[in-house]
Amino acid sequence: MTEDDRIVTGEAKDDAESSVEQSLRPSSLATYIGQSALKRELSVYIRAAKKREEALDHVLLYGPPGLGKTTLAMIIASEMQVGIKTTSGPAIEKTGDLVALLNELQPGDVLFIDEIHRLPKVVEEMLYSAMEDFYIDIVVGQGPTAHPVHFPLPPFTLIGATTRAGLLSAPLRDRFGIVGHMAYYNTDELEEIVMRSARILNSPIQEEGAHEIARRSRGTPRIANRLLKRIRDFAEVSDQHDSIDRPIVQQALKMLQVDEDGLDQTDLKLLRTMIRFYNGGPVGLNTLAANIGEETDTVAEMYEPFLLQKGFIKRTARGRMVTPLAYEHLGISPEHN
Ligand SMILES: Nc1ncnc2c1ncn2[C@@H]1O[C@H](COP(=O)(O)OP(=O)(O)OP(=O)(O)O)[C@@H](O)[C@H]1O
Ligand SMILES: [Mg+2]
Repeated sequence: MTEDDRIVTGEAKDDAESSVEQSLRPSSLATYIGQSALKRELSVYIRAAKKREEALDHVLLYGPPGLGKTTLAMIIASEMQVGIKTTSGPAIEKTGDLVALLNELQPGDVLFIDEIHRLPKVVEEMLYSAMEDFYIDIVVGQGPTAHPVHFPLPPFTLIGATTRAGLLSAPLRDRFGIVGHMAYYNTDELEEIVMRSARILNSPIQEEGAHEIARRSRGTPRIANRLLKRIRDFAEVSDQHDSIDRPIVQQALKMLQVDEDGLDQTDLKLLRTMIRFYNGGPVGLNTLAANIGEETDTVAEMYEPFLLQKGFIKRTARGRMVTPLAYEHLGISPEHN
């Protein structure tokens, strides 16, 4: 994978990076920027649950990667003043793993399951009664002595996060009382996030610089923060820029091969492949992913939603198609290819 790809898909790996990452995470609803409709809703439910001294209803958060689902789950636990246990769908391999997690919960605690669409079926089925009536039935013993034991649980809040709500089964989805759709952030919100992060990073920035980063961050806070960190490096080694201004952002993004609209090399490759080899489409997602050397999931979760939102591709019954806007963006005439 190339450097520029990692701006979109990369995860912070080393410890130094992740502690910086940690410091950029807002820790209360008040400092969480954007998603205002969802925030308003959550704040009502949180206050009501606290007043009744009950656990908050189960919450499902869905939307593209890097929009702040994990951050919001942590904020919910902190606003509820309860503990949080964090895990992910693929990490819970057996029902026993789930029993162990549930067993550790204190009344009112949050169990956060990331990538909840990847839970094994048997585990998911055990969650149904846990969510609905706060009990699980476990089988104790083996052979003729095996018998079910009814195991009550403390009231708890399950927060599930997924980038693929469509892959969630209906029985699981229906058990969430609160369903929050995370939308892409607008430029003003991202600008605010960039200004806040720059302050935390002690990195002087001009509003115009922040605006330019915001505009090209694919509506995604994680990408805005990642670009900011890279651009800060450019600014620090440059003797013409004592703060991050628009020209340094433009120079840096050019080197990082992020285009005027925030499209990276993979986005452009995807669009060009559709035009060159499929005459603009329709083409299926699997075929397209194979053609550009990416996983289907990566294309479905990271690239497609952004290109759809930008209006560069559209979905049809027979596959994805490039729109006139994409031809225009690429400077290719639809007739001559
Ligand atoms: N509303 C926000 N305000 C400020 N910063 C935010 C906000 N949302 C997210 N961020 C920043 O973006 C980063 C990514 O957010 P987070 O890890 O919560 O995303 P996610 O939706 O859980 O992503 P994934 O689907 O990949 O797990 C966080 O480290 C945080 O710094
Ligand atoms: Mg997450």
